[in-house]
This record gives sequence, structure tokens and C-alpha cells, in this order.
Amino acid sequence: MSRDLKIALFPGTFDPPSLGHLNIIERAVEICDVLLVAVACNPDKEKTGFFSLEEKLEMLRAITRRFPKVEVTSFEGLTAEFAQRKQIRFLIRGVRNLADVATEFQMASANRYLGSIETLFLMADERYSYVSSSLIRTIAKLGGSIAKFVPPEVEMLIQRK
Ligand code: COA
Repeated sequence: MSRDLKIALFPGTFDPPSLGHLNIIERAVEICDVLLVAVACNPDKEKTGFFSLEEKLEMLRAITRRFPKVEVTSFEGLTAEFAQRKQIRFLIRGVRNLADVATEFQMASANRYLGSIETLFLMADERYSYVSSSLIRTIAKLGGSIAKFVPPEVEMLIQRK
């Protein structure tokens, strides 16, 4: 990828992607030329995760179809190493609250030391600051409505599941 383009990587577990994640994507495409949305694939977690890697990719592709700047992919291993392989210098992360800041600060520092990767933080929209993937999974498992937390494409896939 060209060094002249402002390419950013938005890594995550996306189990499943939520309206909060989509809001971060919508805002990130305003500040970069290409946004790589990448599912971090942890083979151990894959066994315990609710959605398979294929399902996560399908959901992310469906909800980002309208953004020409977005590419959806996945990776194994360290985020910093993946970013380096792709010659990406910027990560995008959303922060929802002070607890997120603490963990994100640690990850951002590690990624800077591991691969000279800078992390750009976007504050989560207050409408989604309490939304989390585990909350969505719990509501879905118990048969509740998740329409207020996920894009319609994701809701359809979860209903199918
Ligand atoms: N809106 C809604 N939810 C959000 C959110 C937002 N803006 N930002 C974070 N979340 C929630 C998710 O819903 C999820 O909730 P859950 O814990 O209830 O499931 C949680 O925050 C985290 O999810 P997500 O942002 O999808 O991914 P993550 O924080 O699990 O991703 C990685 C972390 C993948 C970036 C990190 O673990 C990583 O880099 N892994 C690769 C290995 C590595 O390099 N490790 C060393 C890092 S220094």
C-alpha cells in the first residue's frame, strides 16, 4: 500500500459488530483515505466466540458496503505486526468510558513500542457508550430485541442464527 495514502487500521473482535463500532467506522472514514477494518482472529477464542470468523466478516462487509474507503479483512497474531506488514502506521480505536481508556492506553503503548504504530482514539458517541458485544450476545441468547444495538444487517444474521 502507498505510504502517501492515510491508511488506518481498525482492529477488533467484532463479536458481533455493533452500532457503536459502525459509528466509529463512519467517523474514521472522514479522516483517512483507506480504512482497513480487521477482525483479530484468535484461534483459541474462535472456539469460544459466539460468531465464527466467516460470520463476522460477512456482517462487517454488509454494514460497510456503502463506504468505498473501507476494506474488511482478518488477521492472526499481533496487531502491530499485521499493521507493519501492511505498512499501516495508524490504528483507530473507540473509547466509551474511563475503563476503556485504561486498557486502551496500555494497548496503544504496547503497539507503539512493538511497531511504532500510533493509535488515534475516537470518543464513542454517547448513544452507544454503554453498548458492548457481550451485552448484545446476552440479549440475543435470551431472545430479546437487539435492534437498538446493531445495524439491521447484523440483526438479520443473528436472527438467522
Ligand atoms: N462501540 C461499541 N462497543 C465497543 C466499542 C464501541 N465504540 N468499542 C469497544 N467496544 C466493545 C465491544 O463491543 C467489546 O465488548 P465485549 O467485551 O462485551 O465483547 C469490547 O468493547 C471489545 O471489543 P472490540 O473493540 O471489538 O475488540 P477488542 O477490544 O476485543 O479488540 C484487539 C482488541 C483485537 C484490538 C486487541 O486484543 C488486539 O490487538 N489483539 C491482537 C493481539 C495483540 O496484538 N495483542 C497485544 C495488544 S497490545
